[in-house]
Amino acid sequence: METVNSTLGDIIDGSYLDGRLIADLIGHMNQGDLTRAQCMSYVQILFGAGHSTTTDLIANVVYVLTGRAGDLDRMMDDETFAGQFLEEVLRTRPSFHRIRRVTTRDVSIGDVVIPAGSMVRLLLAAANRDPASLEDPETFDPDKKRRQHMAFGRGIHTCLGSTLPASRRRSRFRCARVM
Ligand code: HEM
Repeated sequence: METVNSTLGDIIDGSYLDGRLIADLIGHMNQGDLTRAQCMSYVQILFGAGHSTTTDLIANVVYVLTGRAGDLDRMMDDETFAGQFLEEVLRTRPSFHRIRRVTTRDVSIGDVVIPAGSMVRLLLAAANRDPASLEDPETFDPDKKRRQHMAFGRGIHTCLGSTLPASRRRSRFRCARVM
């Protein structure tokens, strides 16, 4: 943790700038909008939130491709397909299977009332395979162009990195390098 903090400190102190988002945060710190501690905390969240999720996604893409070698060639040639493939991996194998919330008011789901102040677990992975909203949800099929999934959450806490699969070109080249 000491090494991580020291590296993050170097980033914040401008020893090197690692991308536009962090550069923006540092800009706000320099303007006095954020304290150094707040900036550090933000960068820690970004590293934490962005690391294991992306690692899992890459591992899942490689795993799925082991049984679908022909799709790699298609991904290399077709950006749209590469995006659809990533979305389908995220749908069927999301990095987060569940998230937690505390209800701020009574919530009714069907016949059940969940009282205010309850801790609830939302099963994103199950929602992604909901037969009520998707046809044939258990089948991995990137050609189906299924846009709806919950792999990045929903609402005000929607993932900051949710545009990741949209940057298909970069993803495609990253895949090519991995393979
Ligand atoms: C495949 C990659 C990723 C997946 C599947 C993923 C998934 C998620 C999910 C499900 C949430 C919602 C958590 C909740 O509602 O409790 C979330 C939030 C978040 N993600 Fe990601 N994430 C990914 C990549 C990234 C990356 C690369 C970054 C950083 C650039 C990032 C930054 C964040 C942040 C800051 C939040 C919190 C947003 C908030 O609470 O307002 N994520 N992510």
